[in-house]
Amino acid sequence: MVYFFSDIADLSSKIGDLVRPYSSVFLLCDENTKKYCLPLIKATLTNAKVISVASGETNKNLANCEHIWTELTGHFADRRSLLINLGGGVITDMGGFAASCYKRGIDFINIPTTLLAMVDASVGGKTGIDLQNFKNQIGIFSEAKEVLICPEFLKTLDERQLRSGLAEMVKHYLIADGPAFIDFSRASHTVPDIELIKKAVAIKSEIVEQDPFEKNIRKKLNFGHTIGHALESYSHTTSDPLFHGEAVAYGMAIETFIAAFKSLIDEEKAGFVCHTLLSAFDLKPLPDVAVEGLLTYTLQDKKNDKGIVKMALIDDIGRCGIDIEVSSSEIRQAILYFNKTVTPHTK
Ligand SMILES: NC(=O)c1ccc[n+]([C@@H]2O[C@H](COP(=O)([O-])OP(=O)(O)OC[C@H]3O[C@@H](n4cnc5c(N)ncnc54)[C@H](O)[C@@H]3O)[C@@H](O)[C@H]2O)c1
Repeated sequence: MVYFFSDIADLSSKIGDLVRPYSSVFLLCDENTKKYCLPLIKATLTNAKVISVASGETNKNLANCEHIWTELTGHFADRRSLLINLGGGVITDMGGFAASCYKRGIDFINIPTTLLAMVDASVGGKTGIDLQNFKNQIGIFSEAKEVLICPEFLKTLDERQLRSGLAEMVKHYLIADGPAFIDFSRASHTVPDIELIKKAVAIKSEIVEQDPFEKNIRKKLNFGHTIGHALESYSHTTSDPLFHGEAVAYGMAIETFIAAFKSLIDEEKAGFVCHTLLSAFDLKPLPDVAVEGLLTYTLQDKKNDKGIVKMALIDDIGRCGIDIEVSSSEIRQAILYFNKTVTPHTK
């Protein structure tokens, strides 16, 4: 169940109610959410044991899961213990996974503190960690007992992180709510209010409810993610790693061009989508070396079937198809076209 709170006092009171039945309570955070977010709710969690990990995607790994499991074991967590994940998508993904494996599964609650985690990562039951440079290579479906969303946490989030979250919101609009995307294209792209967050969460929740294990329409949520994940993985091998949402913004633009090349979407609409993404997310041309790296990572995508790359691609603004076969040459062609389109916009 997802709850929304416009202030911390209401959130704290809900947390107090939710933790009461548990034998012990643990809270997972990183150094930033420990500094900026934990103090806001700490008064209601005086008995919780805090487990802290270093922030960032490179820390969404097995070593940190082992650290979490070691802490739970060292403090005698039993099957009636609760783990609260206070953080962005790295914390909710990894904490959800760690909780779901510990003693074959304990309850966990997500309190997302980034926009991206609020509108996407904390909702829908996908948990996991990265392996080497491969995104979410190890993981399971496991639903948070509750998700508590309070935009107050966004006040300490920097602008680049906010924009990264905005990309996942826009993705929800592009696959399911055309008018919302048009509104977005006309608006100034600042911190969204609680109603826009609710709208994005509602789109995701509705899709997940119909297809929790991604056998069918949930695959729509992967729009922008085949290229996005490949680019994100590749960027983590360089000195200039992209944030998840940033990579997804590139992914949505490039995949929209793929959809246009395949005549799935009208060229003019594809152009409008891409232009909106370019200006909202300040996309730059990709260096040649990234193109080959990206193709290699695309072949590792979880959505592939017998080595064939399959994507979710929009066929209109607000509508998305799934399981569409895409060849390496189509991907290469779309990236080159993307680079050509972006170059005049780049100063
Ligand atoms: N499970 C899913 O369905 C799903 C969906 C989308 C993304 N994801 C995953 O989410 C992850 C990305 O999430 P993210 O963008 O939230 O990254 P993140 O968790 O790394 O958070 C971004 C940064 O912001 C800091 N931070 C978090 N909250 C803050 C706050 N309120 N104030 C100040 N700093 C704060 C964090 O410490 C971190 O440095 C990726 O690993 C991605 O794979 C999962």
